[in-house]
Amino acid sequence: MMSWMIYGATGYTGELIAREAVRLGLQPVLAGRSRDKLERLAAELNLTICVFDLHYPAAVVDALEGVELVLHCAGPFSSTSAPMIEGCLSVGAHYLDISGEASVFEHCHAQQQAERAKEKGLVLCSGVGFDVIPTDCIALKLKQLLPDATHLSLGFDTSSGLSPGTAKTAIEGLGLGNLERIDGKLVYTAMGKKHREIDFGRGKRYAMAIPWGDVSSAYYTTGIANIDTWFPMRKSRVRGAQIINLLKPVLASRWLQALLKKLVDKQVKGPDDAARHRLPSYVWGEARNAEGRRVTVRIKTANGYSLTVDGALAIAQWLMHNTVAGGSYTPAMLLGAHFIETLPGSGSFIID
Ligand SMILES: NC(=O)c1ccc[n+]([C@@H]2O[C@H](COP(=O)([O-])OP(=O)(O)OC[C@H]3O[C@@H](n4cnc5c(N)ncnc54)[C@H](OP(=O)(O)O)[C@@H]3O)[C@@H](O)[C@H]2O)c1
Repeated sequence: MMSWMIYGATGYTGELIAREAVRLGLQPVLAGRSRDKLERLAAELNLTICVFDLHYPAAVVDALEGVELVLHCAGPFSSTSAPMIEGCLSVGAHYLDISGEASVFEHCHAQQQAERAKEKGLVLCSGVGFDVIPTDCIALKLKQLLPDATHLSLGFDTSSGLSPGTAKTAIEGLGLGNLERIDGKLVYTAMGKKHREIDFGRGKRYAMAIPWGDVSSAYYTTGIANIDTWFPMRKSRVRGAQIINLLKPVLASRWLQALLKKLVDKQVKGPDDAARHRLPSYVWGEARNAEGRRVTVRIKTANGYSLTVDGALAIAQWLMHNTVAGGSYTPAMLLGAHFIETLPGSGSFIID
């Protein structure tokens, strides 16, 4: 059996993944930086632990010795992904994470990382959660349906609720504005500038372009040079977002970011079991080509957190049983467009 590790195993999502892994008969090593929390969970799940801090490269390499796959769940990943990728490349372990951050995807797909992974026969795959499995699969499906697409829009409508790490990641993005891919380049644009009606799968809703990780990942999956990402937003809130542009320097300031993250620690707990079962997600994508031809793909999926647990474990298990050329991948590059349809709670693609 492959030796593998969940790092960040006692966070909201890491713990859900650890519990489901055990239910499936898997035996991950539970890892992270907080010994007490790890000992409590490991005693309950009858698993071993590994405690190390990502700030110390030599400690990361020591800790990963003998590990063949890491499922990284400790975020925001802006500061945790690069040292873990480095550790994995040093010891020869596949790297998966549940990040949704464009900068993390860019690092994972950068030539330096991709080439080393290729040489060593290792897989680096960032984004094995709700962000970006369903949108990435839709992106690939759209590319297959409209191979000469020049523009790709992706989005989702969900009432999934927020986990602490997701809220902190959103706070880190507050001072940056919207992010789009334009002519192959990632470009920050004003928040609230792009808005339109979209039917994500449960009727038309007003929506605004938001900085979602697919503006990075879907480019690697499809090669389409213009990508934006969308989320439902009432018109009054779009106006609010436009005002937020003026506050960007304040929102990006260290003290305010730290204060907001402390508030998250106190107040955000993440959706409970009942909420996760009750609240599905609706995912949509639209591609268009130079002649103005449009194709739309929609799919209903499980709640974002349930999908993250099932999707991340499905990809980890797939890697345990399959051999693939080394390199940097997105989820759909690894498992194909129809992977999303195989996950619990998913329907089938609806194509217009
Ligand atoms: N792709 C998706 O759809 C999806 C779904 C869910 C979550 N996420 C992402 O996953 C991440 C975790 O979310 P969550 O809600 O589970 O977070 P959480 O409950 O706040 O847990 C975060 C975990 O990461 C650890 N951690 C944070 N910073 C660290 C650092 N610098 N070094 C080592 N460990 C660190 C924490 O350890 P301590 O307990 O020691 O602080 C904790 O175990 C977030 O980035 C979130 O956006 C993505």
